[in-house]
Amino acid sequence: MNFREIAELRQSCRAYNSERPVEQEKLQAILEVARLSPSACNGQPYHITVCRGETALKVAKATQGMGINKFAPEAPVMLVISEKPYVKTAALGAKMKKNDYRSMDIGILSAYITAEAAAQGLSSCILGWLDEDKIREVCTDIDGTVRLVITLGYAKDDDKLRAKKRKDLDELVSFIE
Ligand SMILES: Cc1cc2nc3c(=O)[nH]c(=O)nc-3n(C[C@H](O)[C@H](O)[C@H](O)COP(=O)(O)O)c2cc1C
Repeated sequence: MNFREIAELRQSCRAYNSERPVEQEKLQAILEVARLSPSACNGQPYHITVCRGETALKVAKATQGMGINKFAPEAPVMLVISEKPYVKTAALGAKMKKNDYRSMDIGILSAYITAEAAAQGLSSCILGWLDEDKIREVCTDIDGTVRLVITLGYAKDDDKLRAKKRKDLDELVSFIE
């Protein structure tokens, strides 16, 4: 698959086959691609905590509330993305330029993870609705702010590819000469 095909195929999955585990080699391939993600000053200011089994279930519950993310407990793998400190140059740049490079870095990391998951035939959903304190209780290795959780697994057979709803290109892009 080329990148265009991956981008067309990838969608947020909210219906997982909870009986079908994610193969270790596919998970490994996704994490290896995540490692290649670019970041400000190459600082890689993030950590990925891979949660499976009971831990995944507990993290899933920490992404729920007010009727949101009801599907999360069906996903066999949850990747918790937390912040690590900036390297000195990125910290200086972020301060001087008043820019939040770390959130951008985590966004790009998440794009790499979800694209490679799609390339591996897996489905994913990026979750920003989460209870950080509850996740910290479960993931005791985390020492930075929890930013995102990514669900991974196989979609249910009847989970169809949806038409993409996106802004028109002329609204999204402007050309200036
Ligand atoms: C930073 C971020 C946070 C998100 N949080 C949630 C979430 O908590 N729950 C959810 O179901 N989807 C969440 N999404 C998925 C978006 O709703 C989804 O990407 C968007 O509607 C486009 O749909 P698609 O991914 O199927 O193409 C999030 C996506 C991003 C990038």
